[in-house]
Amino acid sequence: MNTVLQVKSLKITYPRSHNPLIQIPEWYVEEGELWIILGANGSGKTTILYSITGIIPLLIKAKVEGKIRISGENPFNSKDVFRKATLLLQNPYDQLTQSTVENEIIFPLANLGIEKKKIRVALSYYLNYFGIDSIRFRNPQTLSSGEAQKTLLSSMFSREPNIFLFDEPEAHLDFKGKTQLFKIIKKILESGKTVIITTHAPENYISLDPKFLFIKQNTTYVYRNLRDLFKNTSSNEIIRLSYEIQKNYDQFIKDPYSWQWENYSKKMVEEICL
Ligand SMILES: Nc1ncnc2c1ncn2[C@@H]1O[C@H](COP(=O)(O)OP(=O)(O)OP(=O)(O)O)[C@@H](O)[C@H]1O
Ligand SMILES: [Mg+2]
Repeated sequence: MNTVLQVKSLKITYPRSHNPLIQIPEWYVEEGELWIILGANGSGKTTILYSITGIIPLLIKAKVEGKIRISGENPFNSKDVFRKATLLLQNPYDQLTQSTVENEIIFPLANLGIEKKKIRVALSYYLNYFGIDSIRFRNPQTLSSGEAQKTLLSSMFSREPNIFLFDEPEAHLDFKGKTQLFKIIKKILESGKTVIITTHAPENYISLDPKFLFIKQNTTYVYRNLRDLFKNTSSNEIIRLSYEIQKNYDQFIKDPYSWQWENYSKKMVEEICL
């Protein structure tokens, strides 16, 4: 096993606050794993993703105590961290900074010192892979949310990170978009890379056998599978996690793994088509 992320005795405290917003006693992520960060609004999910990628404290001020290592390196000292662990923000427009879609892919690669020829190959491959070649010269701020997300995914993939981090990636997507996203995450995992995702719809990913980092009252609990999460969490807390779990609670309790996004999405499509 290759540990790609190590977090130990982590405390994150925002300015003008006396107590840490979040504490992570210990969290290890191995290569190829899928982790879901669960927690209520405002519990600190995004804050955790920012600290792992060095956005906190490099771009957003907060006190960080404890240890974070990405593939053994401290993200606060490593120039390479943005390549090793790349994050898709919840609001894509906050992340789009260039004047054209293609520059969103070219610019970060050029910044990493990748040679021009390789950049051209990556550009045409990912524009094609995410089906956005026809919008390559558009201003990213004029894109629809789904197009904006595909642009960022292209940029993210072209950097070939070891860890893909997604902050509520379904938030702006329609049903087809959600199904495509599920397939993308499945592909990343099949290629042996690691995915960490925050979501209010954990049921979408159950068939990918995720592990959970559950935030409760400023601390986090590690559950290495769904049964552990259900065993150690009250029904009230679980029901608050997601609408689908609430609606189908009896089924989830009896056999959590019976919930398969592929079947669910197929059934939904059949229902819509009928
Ligand atoms: N830069 C900041 N300075 C001070 N407080 C902040 C800052 N950024 C976030 N917070 C606060 O920290 C808390 C956690 O925010 P965070 O965005 O991490 O929550 P979240 O779990 O991602 O919530 P959501 O589900 O709504 O996305 C919130 O109360 C938020 O207002
Ligand atoms: Mg958030």
